[in-house]
Amino acid sequence: MSFGLGHGKPLVAGDVGIELLSLPPLPIAESVEAARVALGFDPRAWFIEPARRFEIEIGSGKGTFLLQQTELEPETNFLGIEWTSEFWVYAADRIRRRALPNVKLLRGDATEFLRSRVPDQIVSVIHLYFSDPWPKTRHHKRRVVQDHTLREFHRVLAPQGELRIVTDHDALWQWDLEHIDRARHLFERRAFERPSSAGEGELVGTNFERKFRREGRPFHAMTLVRL
Ligand SMILES: C[S@@+](CC[C@H](N)C(=O)[O-])C[C@H]1O[C@@H](n2cnc3c(N)ncnc32)[C@H](O)[C@@H]1O
Repeated sequence: MSFGLGHGKPLVAGDVGIELLSLPPLPIAESVEAARVALGFDPRAWFIEPARRFEIEIGSGKGTFLLQQTELEPETNFLGIEWTSEFWVYAADRIRRRALPNVKLLRGDATEFLRSRVPDQIVSVIHLYFSDPWPKTRHHKRRVVQDHTLREFHRVLAPQGELRIVTDHDALWQWDLEHIDRARHLFERRAFERPSSAGEGELVGTNFERKFRREGRPFHAMTLVRL
């Protein structure tokens, strides 16, 4: 139980929340990839209807996109991944109170989770909205988009699966474009299509988008389709 963002009200992740650290350990193998295959883990088994379409949001923050979109898409299973405990428990508590059976929230590093626990070609969409820009050069390695993460996204995405990116941050956008250019054999760039839950004049309608919109910041957005 946590109080943090709950302003004195207890926050409970309940069975919406899952900790990366609580997952079955990887067996000893020559590489993480070999261990993942040997373990045979599949996160779709967390849902009541595991065969449904499966989407992942990296960096769900307070969970607003998940809450909005899942109500319009009850037939899709959504997994949010958030590494900050305070946001993770806040978002999981919101989802738990709405009793949404098709949303789970994992606490941990999304890139580590994808690499070590997600089988090939099972994800229809990866959502990456207002990812942390990590402006200092020595922190660039913490940015979600990297050459190796783009290869991982390509591996876990189903044929024609999509990576959807929105950011307000010019330098991060340039970084993303440079990396995506190097991965042009893996993805085709298309225009961003707003999810059905986006409000009037919004691209997605996350907390950060709403905050940055009030500050008058312009946004960049794209969809990458898996080749
Ligand atoms: C700037 S916030 C945006 C939150 C939300 N997407 C929004 O638009 O309101 C970025 C979030 O991504 C999370 N995050 C960054 N890198 C992550 C990673 N590798 N795995 C999981 N969460 C990550 C951060 O903790 C933070 O909550």
